[in-house]
Amino acid sequence: MTKKKIIIDCDPGIDDTLALLYALQHPELEVVAVTVVAGNSPIELGVKNAFVSLELLNRLDIPVYKGAATPLVRNYVSAQDTHGMDGLGENDFQLKTSYRVQEQSADAFLADYFASEQDTAIIALGPLTNIAKAIERNPNLGQHCSRFVSMGGSFKSHGNCSPVAEYNYWCDPHAAQQVFQMLGRQVEMVGLDVTRSIVLTPNHLEYMSRLNSRMVDFIAKITRFYFDFHWEYEHIIGCVINDPLAIAHFINNDICTGFDSYTDVVTDGLAIGQTVVDQYHFHHKPSNSTILTSVNTHLFWTDFLTVILNAQKEVIAHDLNNLQLG
Ligand code: RIB
Ligand code: CA
Repeated sequence: MTKKKIIIDCDPGIDDTLALLYALQHPELEVVAVTVVAGNSPIELGVKNAFVSLELLNRLDIPVYKGAATPLVRNYVSAQDTHGMDGLGENDFQLKTSYRVQEQSADAFLADYFASEQDTAIIALGPLTNIAKAIERNPNLGQHCSRFVSMGGSFKSHGNCSPVAEYNYWCDPHAAQQVFQMLGRQVEMVGLDVTRSIVLTPNHLEYMSRLNSRMVDFIAKITRFYFDFHWEYEHIIGCVINDPLAIAHFINNDICTGFDSYTDVVTDGLAIGQTVVDQYHFHHKPSNSTILTSVNTHLFWTDFLTVILNAQKEVIAHDLNNLQLG
């Protein structure tokens, strides 16, 4: 089977890291490059955290590009309250050696890469600052990427940064608006409506530890802090792992379903960062997005755990049903 080529734009971040571990080990994917944007973590920390994942999997062959340190207009606000001051759950992981990012900035790389390449998808897991700047450099980027998937936004689910706004689009609403308006291709929006159903629980970790302790030790370390945050603010046992669902959606279109719509992003005032999904065509504008609204959690957990644990899909599917793990 020919692998699907992807570029992951991310803000590592705990769930970005889980998404990287999933994508880097997935048999159907070829990760061409990782581009980093300020979001969960300040940019230098985000770059370091990207290298933590690449080093863990011995994939330092994959180039890392450093991107925007601040949003296009707003002052930068990190999510270190959620992900820890180190961006990975207060573990302060030390890299075995110092790694160098590529010379080019992330947006310059993306603009140049998509000047010619036409069979690579972009999966954006953070604020869309790099993507918006890359489109400014290369207006054909959206036409040349094979698909564009963004973890972000919210259709009918409540926000996680305000009653109505999700962090990635709240952090840089101007970039999000520019991408929705200028990409020239459907933004496949994997928002809180679907990601909130993907909750990694202590039972998942307990099950995972029975099959593959090496990876699970690392995952347990980085999610402990996330568990505490989720208990305090969302009163759930476990943590919502948003970003891996964007990867899973890209791999298997059956995991999430939704509808096409014109969507805009609020860039100021009380609702800043809100995605306004024009489901009933009030604005009479052509669709620019696919809004994912329902998710088959069993299909997600089966593929995610099969890859992360390097296990047999049939075993995982059977155990998930028997153990009621999703
Ligand atoms: O709102 C959740 C999103 O914001 C996730 O991508 C998380 O990693 C943060 O970037
Ligand atoms: Ca993220």
